[in-house]
Amino acid sequence: MSTGSFSKPFSAAFDINSQEFSLTGVIRPRSVDEIAVNISMLKGAIDQVRGVLYINVKRLIQMNNTAFHAFVRVFLDACRARPDLRFVIVTSSVVGWTTRMFSHLNKIEPQITIEVYDSKFYPGQSFVEDASFIPILRTQTKMTWRHERTILPRHGMRPGIAMADICCGIGDFAVLVQKEFQPLRIVALDHSRASLAYARDVATGFGITDIEYTYGDASEMLLEDSQFDFVSCRHSLQIFNRPDVLLAELYRICKPGGRVYVTNEKNSHCLGEPRSQSIQWTYNEVAKLFSHFEMDVELGPKSRRYFADAGFEDIVVESIMVSNLDGDPQDFADVIAAWENVYAGEMAVKRGDSPEFIQRFRQGFQDHIFAALHPKGYAGWPIWVASGRKPR
Ligand SMILES: C[S@@+](CC[C@H](N)C(=O)[O-])C[C@H]1O[C@@H](n2cnc3c(N)ncnc32)[C@H](O)[C@@H]1O
Repeated sequence: MSTGSFSKPFSAAFDINSQEFSLTGVIRPRSVDEIAVNISMLKGAIDQVRGVLYINVKRLIQMNNTAFHAFVRVFLDACRARPDLRFVIVTSSVVGWTTRMFSHLNKIEPQITIEVYDSKFYPGQSFVEDASFIPILRTQTKMTWRHERTILPRHGMRPGIAMADICCGIGDFAVLVQKEFQPLRIVALDHSRASLAYARDVATGFGITDIEYTYGDASEMLLEDSQFDFVSCRHSLQIFNRPDVLLAELYRICKPGGRVYVTNEKNSHCLGEPRSQSIQWTYNEVAKLFSHFEMDVELGPKSRRYFADAGFEDIVVESIMVSNLDGDPQDFADVIAAWENVYAGEMAVKRGDSPEFIQRFRQGFQDHIFAALHPKGYAGWPIWVASGRKPR
């Protein structure tokens, strides 16, 4: 239900199956009467649940004191009346005030606990937000852009559109798109503050001031529905343990008739000559390593299925082979060295791999570098590009 007097839509909802009561938007009532219906929905929810009632405030952008005190009164009364019941208030670091404001409740009433959702997105989150990823991303984009700049128009990119780049990393793709295709508006969203800070510097370095870099959680964005003609999400569906949830969000913010564009890998298909066997062994292991942390770096060819299941039409899938023949082979060698650094470093160690395994694992990356730099060698990194149209 929406309340018209608020500047942004406010809604409250209760889902009995997940025992979750959610508050979303901006809620600034002048008196408690204005939110009486929401308060009674909360009371009804309390009556129906056993065990834990989850209070989802991840998208609660603003709440004035009148509303805060009215809802808190209900929580506190319920704690007294129902010692069997626990409240877990789920906040998000994207909406910082909620954690600060709701945390106090735990001191008054231990039955109420606060969880910051972002710290438990998915097991691999910390690796991909690590600042050591920044140099890899920049060189990767440099290599893929040669291919993508010619591919993008086939997937709906054109001048004058509104676009969003979700999980934008260091924002270099947004800058390249801005220069090449001149969209009217670009929003670039990521959950790594280090990457966004870097992104703003990259844009400034190119004299570009109108990209809207935004801190946010891609799986629960504060962006409104149906506002972009083109939504890109590169190399990122594959790092979420629930790619379908992320794709549903991309669908949501895309305009009917607009397109969502993704790129993903199939790591076990990285290849090189000479020393192909050692290279192949290592990249098979890369896929297993990521899957240990619930990330699917084999997702590329599965994107057609994900798009179909999400309800897209006119799905277009193509693959590209980024190789050592694209520009300076040293760029590719640098990317492989950075992969080795993170995958055979922090990730393998965290999985508890033996020194013997890590040594063999590293060797495959070294052999891939050897192939990339060899005057007669070939080293490849296959990427799947997919896009689909949101039905009108
Ligand atoms: C593999 S990188 C890809 C970055 C960029 N699209 C590129 O191709 O260079 C994945 C990005 O997703 C971001 N990310 C991870 N979890 C996120 C989340 N929940 N919301 C938004 N961004 C997230 C990471 O910070 C990282 O920048």
